[in-house]
Amino acid sequence: MSTTTDNKFKIGIFAANASGGIAATTVPERWQPTWENNKKIAQMADAAGLEFMLPLGRWAGYGGTTDHNGTSLETLTWASGVLACTKNIKAFSTLHVALIHPVFAAKQMVTADHIGNGRFGLNIVCGWNADEFGMFGKPIGSHESRYQLGEEWFEVVKRIWTETEPFDHDGDFFQMQNVRAMPKPISKPWPTTMCAGQSGAGLDFAVRHADYLFRGIQVMDTAKDELKKVQQNAADLSRKVGIFTNAYVVCRPTEKEAEDYHRYYAVDHADEGAVDTIFVGRGLRDDPNLSADTKAELRRRIAAGNSAFPIVGTPDQVADKMKQLSDLGFAGIAMGLVNYVEHFPYFRDEVLPRLERLGLRQPAATA
Ligand SMILES: Cc1cc2nc3c(=O)[nH]c(=O)nc-3n(C[C@H](O)[C@H](O)[C@H](O)COP(=O)(O)O)c2cc1C
Repeated sequence: MSTTTDNKFKIGIFAANASGGIAATTVPERWQPTWENNKKIAQMADAAGLEFMLPLGRWAGYGGTTDHNGTSLETLTWASGVLACTKNIKAFSTLHVALIHPVFAAKQMVTADHIGNGRFGLNIVCGWNADEFGMFGKPIGSHESRYQLGEEWFEVVKRIWTETEPFDHDGDFFQMQNVRAMPKPISKPWPTTMCAGQSGAGLDFAVRHADYLFRGIQVMDTAKDELKKVQQNAADLSRKVGIFTNAYVVCRPTEKEAEDYHRYYAVDHADEGAVDTIFVGRGLRDDPNLSADTKAELRRRIAAGNSAFPIVGTPDQVADKMKQLSDLGFAGIAMGLVNYVEHFPYFRDEVLPRLERLGLRQPAATA
């Protein structure tokens, strides 16, 4: 697997290209995804030795007071910009594979990979949002057919990246003649790929094709067995997959300050309209198996970090929680912060040294 460091526990910045990041909140310091802000956090993360920048592929917002995620920078051009202004960090692009032709995508990704001298990564999204597909005039199709398309799309892209002779392709989703493309990627055999599929089909796709698999954590107790099973499935195919999760971090000098800030942005100032869209869209509101308390907790997790894993506390507590994730078998996290530029320096100065002392990370390379 191609990574930018050998750190045992890798950390990436998640969703800095989209308004609000992963926090559906109305607080005035909520994240504004201007290019200047993105450049700042990318360079800060790079200098601190973080491993990757992972954007959200979004075409429309979730509504509410802020139209959460309604403003977002397109992820291939964003990744190219991030790679041009950084030295070591990897930048992913998040692609809805049904919405971008493989010939065009393959060339754009190679271009980004050259800009970054082999630091480009691809997050494959097979799709779930019918409203966004409608913007492209495309029916979303069945869950199964979306992963079948993803499979064919990625097979074609890999051929474009590796084959030196022109080829034809006559598949279920794509018919192409005399396909050829130069240059080839700098990353060998091709750029790092990730997939965040959660369903059986999504996991199966990730195990067969991805270097990084993103797995949401519902309950920590069952995560270890789940992870082992995924690793075993990958090992059966002679593959190794790094399993990551998405997490939001609130880190303050005292536990009370961290909890107060958590409540302030994710409860007192939750963007309830946007939370509703996500809550209803995922079928949670009408799920008869969920208690009122569970629903309230799920709503808070959506506001706090789009259902990501909560890491809230003092620098010691945050570092300990990351150690627990590492002990469960997670290779790292994609991290959301309410305001990346304002909140990252404290995390960098207080949590990263603790992770080094715990043996999870090395100091950033100075080159
Ligand atoms: C960490 C993470 C990042 C994701 N990023 C995006 C994204 O940027 N855009 C998107 O449309 N879906 C995104 N997804 C959704 C997944 O690609 C996938 O569709 C979802 O987890 C449902 O899994 P399934 O397709 O196996 O049902 C993300 C999911 C996770 C957990």
